[in-house]
Amino acid sequence: MKSSIIFSSLTGNTKKVADEVLKIMPEGTKIYDLKDLNHSLDDELLILGYWVDKANPNKEMYQFMESLKGKKIITFGTLGAYPDSSHAKEVKENTVKILEGNNEVLGTFLCQGKINPKITEMFMKSGGENNVHTMTPERLKRHEDAAKHPNEEDFSNARSFVKDIINSL
Ligand SMILES: Cc1cc2nc3c(=O)[nH]c(=O)nc-3n(C[C@H](O)[C@H](O)[C@H](O)COP(=O)(O)O)c2cc1C
Repeated sequence: MKSSIIFSSLTGNTKKVADEVLKIMPEGTKIYDLKDLNHSLDDELLILGYWVDKANPNKEMYQFMESLKGKKIITFGTLGAYPDSSHAKEVKENTVKILEGNNEVLGTFLCQGKINPKITEMFMKSGGENNVHTMTPERLKRHEDAAKHPNEEDFSNARSFVKDIINSL
């Protein structure tokens, strides 16, 4: 099955996961940074990587997802929150909502990714917009935990996740 990986990454976390997923894909699979993609793709299967922004795929990937029709799709994303949190569950649900109807979503994968230290610093000082991100010890711990990701275990989990789906097709 002809397939491509397309990712969007601001600080490199999602790109790292994309490069790992490529390792288990059949030879000839293409990988694109969404910002450099300037032609349409006739692949049957797309593997889409995004970073999480306000509980959704980042804007550029969100818009790309909205443009897709008739594809089989696997998604992976990196986020600051824990992948087993209710926030991560919401992210997956939001992602499926964008794609389903026009496409077949085969699976959604998330792992933590280090948060830009400038963002952590900003929240330490100001609490962010409407103070919703005021830094509590719990939040700081989450930022510190995220700083260790994506790690080798995340890479292995991402590779297995995609491989199992592809083997089942
Ligand atoms: C503007 C902004 C918004 C973010 N919003 C969220 C969010 O809603 N939930 C979350 O868990 N992480 C959020 N994050 C953390 C990023 O999703 C996370 O650090 C991700 O791994 C960055 O990926 P990248 O290195 O590929 O750009 C946000 C980061 C930024 C910079």
